Amino acid sequence: MNQLSAWLAVNTPLESEPHKFIELFANERMRLLGLNTLTQYVERLNLDPREAQILHQHVAPPETWLFRYIAAFDVLREAILKSDHSKVIHVASLGCATGSEPFSIAATALSCGLTKDQFQILALDYSDDHLDITRTGRASALAQRTPIPKWANEFFHPTTQGQLQLDPRGLAMITTVRADLATWQPARTYDFVFCRNVAIYLNSPTKKRLGRLLGEMTKPNGLVFLGHADSLSLEDTDLKRSEIDHAFVFFKAKKIPQSSTPVWGTSSQRQSIAVKSTITNSPTRSPAIVMAPPIDLFTQAQIAADSGNLAAAEKALLAHLAIKPTDSQAHVLFGCIQMAQNKVAEAERSFTKVVYLEPLNSLALLSLAAISDLRGDAKSAERFRDRAARTVVEHRLD
Ligand SMILES: C[S@@+](CC[C@H](N)C(=O)[O-])C[C@H]1O[C@@H](n2cnc3c(N)ncnc32)[C@H](O)[C@@H]1O
Repeated sequence: MNQLSAWLAVNTPLESEPHKFIELFANERMRLLGLNTLTQYVERLNLDPREAQILHQHVAPPETWLFRYIAAFDVLREAILKSDHSKVIHVASLGCATGSEPFSIAATALSCGLTKDQFQILALDYSDDHLDITRTGRASALAQRTPIPKWANEFFHPTTQGQLQLDPRGLAMITTVRADLATWQPARTYDFVFCRNVAIYLNSPTKKRLGRLLGEMTKPNGLVFLGHADSLSLEDTDLKRSEIDHAFVFFKAKKIPQSSTPVWGTSSQRQSIAVKSTITNSPTRSPAIVMAPPIDLFTQAQIAADSGNLAAAEKALLAHLAIKPTDSQAHVLFGCIQMAQNKVAEAERSFTKVVYLEPLNSLALLSLAAISDLRGDAKSAERFRDRAARTVVEHRLD
């Protein structure tokens, strides 16, 4: 499969280490396309941009859900409430996948009483397929893994297929753009930039460029939100980590360093678009800006799981559960980790615990349905799926 890694290295901005799941995926595509050799598949990738995009979608999947790392949206909401609403607030969701992130951002703005004329969201992704889903404004059942905050509940409406539909006023705030972060040049600066769980898939030169880009495209006093496992070098930027737990938020200091040419334009171009921040009271908005705080056990487990280190994730979770045995989110993650290792019986025990602790947890119910399917127990699978579908309605009656 080194041939495939070599193709990824030359033709994409993705990390191109050989990987068992990529091999399995390539074999499946070859079977579907009627190709006999890897050389034929690589030739097909060279000739067919659609096939190349399908491979990209597999290597960097659209794993996302509504209000992922809820603390980030509490931080965003507080910052929006304190900002100057007479100026348009610009937000970027880079690597927006199927839309749950921009939907959550839009609902946060709606909860602050803002309209599309006051709040605009750029939703950018590499994949046309992901952007097609984003434009529907619908979040699937699997994108509903953590409870929607009470303040955002009224901006999502359940569909008959178990999805959650974003309020049209929120959808009107979102503009989608297909672009590659390895080459994209923003046309303006942003008050808030989300780039979460994207860098983990990128190769070193692209990560390096992205770190600088985030620093340059964020307005003075703006905020940048990253994912747990996004190892980006921000040393060359004036972004400073805040100490807010779980939010992974960085604050752009007001002073812009006199550095070299920006990654996306000349310094004169930059001056012309580096407009003043729309946020007021910035010195008091994030009073506790310090360097990285110690990370709790659950977050350590999430980081390890996100970067594929399942043994470390399992170890951190066991330590966490010894202290907090009824933390249902930890049991959910434990179940997912067991499933990823094909330990189906252990996973089933974890998901059953979750449903006992939190009967409306749709992810646990859907996982139990999948496990019942694996066992050939279609009746139980159907019962779990029915319960999962009903959770969407029952959550809304809360
Ligand atoms: C795991 S999802 C993250 C979704 C969302 N940001 C979140 O945290 O829930 C990663 C997304 O990054 C996108 N992506 C990966 N490489 C990209 C690139 N070079 N340019 C633009 N988008 C990219 C993928 O298509 C995918 O939708």
